[in-house]
Amino acid sequence: MNINKLIKQMSLEQKLAQMTQFNTNCLLIDSKGGITGPAKDLNLSKDVVASTGSTLNFYSAEEVIKLQKMHLNDDPNKIPLLFMHDVIHGFRTIYPIPLAMGATWNPSLLEKCCKMAAKEASVGGVHVTFNPMVDLVRDARWGRVMESTGEDTYLNQIMAKAQVRGFQGDLSSKYDIAACVKHYAAYGGAESGRDYNLVELSEHTLKEYYLPSYKAAIDEGVEMVMTSFNTLNGIPAAGNSWLVKDILRKEWKFNKVIISDYAAFDEMIMHGYCKDKKEAALKAINTTTDIEMMSTCYLNSIKDLINEGLVDEKVIDKCVKRILLLKKKLGLFKNPFKAASSEEEKKYFLCKEHRAICKEAAIESAVLLKNDGILPLNDNIESVAIIGPLAKEGMIGFWSCHGKEDEATSVYDGIVNLVNNTKVNYAKGCDVNLDAIIDDKLVNEAIEVAKNSKVAIICVGETASMSGEGNSRANITLSNAQINLIKEVKKVNNNVVVILFNGRPLVLTDILDDANAIFTMWQPGTEGGSAAADLIFNKANFSGKLTMTFPRHVGQCPIYYNHLNTGRPNLNDDITATYRSRYLDMKNSPLYPFGYGLSYTSFEISKPVLNKNVMTKDEEIKVKVNVKNIGKYKGKTVIQLYIRDLVSSICRPVKELKGFKKIELDVNEEKEVEFVITEDTLKYYGINNKYIAEKGEFELFISDCSDVNESVKFELK
Ligand code: GLC
Repeated sequence: MNINKLIKQMSLEQKLAQMTQFNTNCLLIDSKGGITGPAKDLNLSKDVVASTGSTLNFYSAEEVIKLQKMHLNDDPNKIPLLFMHDVIHGFRTIYPIPLAMGATWNPSLLEKCCKMAAKEASVGGVHVTFNPMVDLVRDARWGRVMESTGEDTYLNQIMAKAQVRGFQGDLSSKYDIAACVKHYAAYGGAESGRDYNLVELSEHTLKEYYLPSYKAAIDEGVEMVMTSFNTLNGIPAAGNSWLVKDILRKEWKFNKVIISDYAAFDEMIMHGYCKDKKEAALKAINTTTDIEMMSTCYLNSIKDLINEGLVDEKVIDKCVKRILLLKKKLGLFKNPFKAASSEEEKKYFLCKEHRAICKEAAIESAVLLKNDGILPLNDNIESVAIIGPLAKEGMIGFWSCHGKEDEATSVYDGIVNLVNNTKVNYAKGCDVNLDAIIDDKLVNEAIEVAKNSKVAIICVGETASMSGEGNSRANITLSNAQINLIKEVKKVNNNVVVILFNGRPLVLTDILDDANAIFTMWQPGTEGGSAAADLIFNKANFSGKLTMTFPRHVGQCPIYYNHLNTGRPNLNDDITATYRSRYLDMKNSPLYPFGYGLSYTSFEISKPVLNKNVMTKDEEIKVKVNVKNIGKYKGKTVIQLYIRDLVSSICRPVKELKGFKKIELDVNEEKEVEFVITEDTLKYYGINNKYIAEKGEFELFISDCSDVNESVKFELK
């Protein structure tokens, strides 16, 4: 296919249609060949519908094949449609949400999950996924923290690359799909955790903490970038030429497809940044964004802007060329249906192998937060009560694409399928909605089953729709009804295990003393219940470590481990200290910090040993620790390397993750873990945003959690 020749034969309207993306329900033509439904509302002509470049949100391979055939028949240029979808944590077989996958600290497992999702999505007709979402998140009130791998820039970069590899492979297989990194940029910095809210960041903070994960995806070869809804320092990302053209295009040399978020061009009018669609089109095209999702600024205004000499048609040709090159790279001109196949949908959706991958991920992402020794349970325990509004629910997350809750195993299913001689009692105990009233009948049923069981397992937290897009929360505790349920059960049964299902860190302070054990399954996906059962009954051990801080109180948000020291740190977390950076009514420290997670076994980590304490910028320092499993069970843990730059031109965090290794040790087994520190390890965006390492003293910490204080020093000369 000669792309340049193809562009030459296209009219301006056809080029603009190629640069526009509509939901598939906008592409439907009625029986008389007329425009119908949303297309009518958008005032689309038949020619525009026929020449549309890409579409999103569709429901089967059969529909994709039908639509592509219809499109190729109607499009005068015979340019195949690009089919895009939000394949975020699975397509039909659903794995845990990205915030859970971050907690695995296992990039190859995440890559395996993405590859599995790509296979299912590709046979389901998908060419491009709007993923990875790599927004740095520090405020649990924001609903979309569930979509991120967490609060750490270093870890997010590694997980971003793993997702790009998993989805894209080398794009040679029909099962590979293009990935689209989002939301560029810093959407996770939404003020007060309220979705779509403004983001105000210094250039230093933006470049040091928020931008690297997008860059990581780009360096890994991601095929697309999606700009974000938010304003960045007063200018919407969708029309922010500094952010998109100067940094993404010029500085990072990203010359592939950029797409807006859903109707974000139109929203620049609501932001008060553009007076009308025409100005929105001008400010958007000045960023060189190629595809407008679900609005018609380009379609309705670019022609006038060209006629008025404000836009050069050559800019439009470049956008169209990037889009056509992506279609060519995906092989669509040769095979416009790619891997779409109803037969292969039946073969791969929910197949044993895919379920096994999702179960492995659900096990590795679960985080054990508290355990007084009650867990693991013996699988021939006389009786258990499974209680709670989420006990019989298949807990798949907000972006579960074609996943279905009733195809996911619940905790109840998982336990019933695992135990043999155990009496399994059940009671709902309360409703799940956030404002659920305390229903005495439901509570009494729960008390009854708890009284008659050795252990009470209470499944509480959030449904998928209590986090995700547009679902921010000002209060992030469990509901009153759920807190009451746990306390009432505890009164009659002293053995209480709380299983959390959550799309964000929740405040657990109110139930901490009532639960003998607490663990989070997040929103674990299709095999969540069977994974939970394996963990409870010691068929598997916990190894998850938080990648987002759990606050004691929502008033601490935003809260994250790699904070600055301030001039008056409250070093002992003493709320009576005077004139220190603290609260009158709450400790500064979180309930559970970044990097935290318990296991059924325990690990002894020796003090770090450096091969030398001084290095020049061309040298390296090797640091080793010895790790021994001193507990009763085989287990995995994550050895984490943190570094602090003690004195710098711009203040640096009290510690920052600079390396990690996930290891598995048998009982009494020990292993040496080594990290290498080079000048690159110590670089940051300093004065004038120069990416440099500054000479001076550093502190180094190695532990299995970020709340480590013991350190060793070294110097960069
Ligand atoms: C949504 C989301 C974005 C998603 C897009 C298409 O509004 O912000 O993450 O990819 O629209 O569904």
